[in-house]
Amino acid sequence: MSENRGPVVALVPAAGRGVRLGESIPKAFVELAGRSMLCRAVDGLLESGVVDTVVVIVPEELVDRARADLPDSVVVVAGGDERADSVRAGLAAATDAELVLVHDAARALTPPSLIARVVAELHAGRTAVIPVLPVSDTIKTVDVLGTVTGTPPRSELRAVQTPQGFDANLLRRAYRDVDGDATDDAGLVERLGERVRTIVGEPQAFKITTPWDLALARALLGQA
Ligand code: C5P
Repeated sequence: MSENRGPVVALVPAAGRGVRLGESIPKAFVELAGRSMLCRAVDGLLESGVVDTVVVIVPEELVDRARADLPDSVVVVAGGDERADSVRAGLAAATDAELVLVHDAARALTPPSLIARVVAELHAGRTAVIPVLPVSDTIKTVDVLGTVTGTPPRSELRAVQTPQGFDANLLRRAYRDVDGDATDDAGLVERLGERVRTIVGEPQAFKITTPWDLALARALLGQA
């Protein structure tokens, strides 16, 4: 257990179908150099030395397989149709958590040092912490027809990674009280009007979403 506060529980949503990756199995179960993305993401959390319990959330039909693949200490639960449903299922299995990390299985190569830095910020008293990187592309907003509607100043934009770290009660409140979708967990916390703190992310924490990302991940691991 961590010294300063109660248990740190990491939730790993891995119940997505991963359609954009174009593989025949759900994305988290795709292997990188002989080890699944899910196992690699969990390895990183355990290696960080700052996480007490890992809860992974997988498609219902893959619960038994995940239990067989992962260390006995890892809790495995079934996810839902949307990512938010999967995170809710994970939160329900983490009732004693005082600090919660939410970490996408798709960020399988995230360095343990980044995980430790997020938790250090929580221990220092922050209640919501996210790793971010500057964006190198110019980003446009567009309408349904693809016509440009705006160009937000690039200097104000950041690409957001995981793990995202929260005071557990704050994240529970966000999932209970905020209606509507968010593509990340901090988005819900922001809508409560709470302050979200950014720290500098890591290029290796990129999300493996497309065949291109998969090729990059395999190349980084030295696998052709
Ligand atoms: O779809 P997206 O790439 O944003 O998914 C991010 C993470 O959320 C992935 O690790 C995916 O497996 C997970 N997810 C989930 N349950 C869903 C959809 C996505 O756990 N229903």
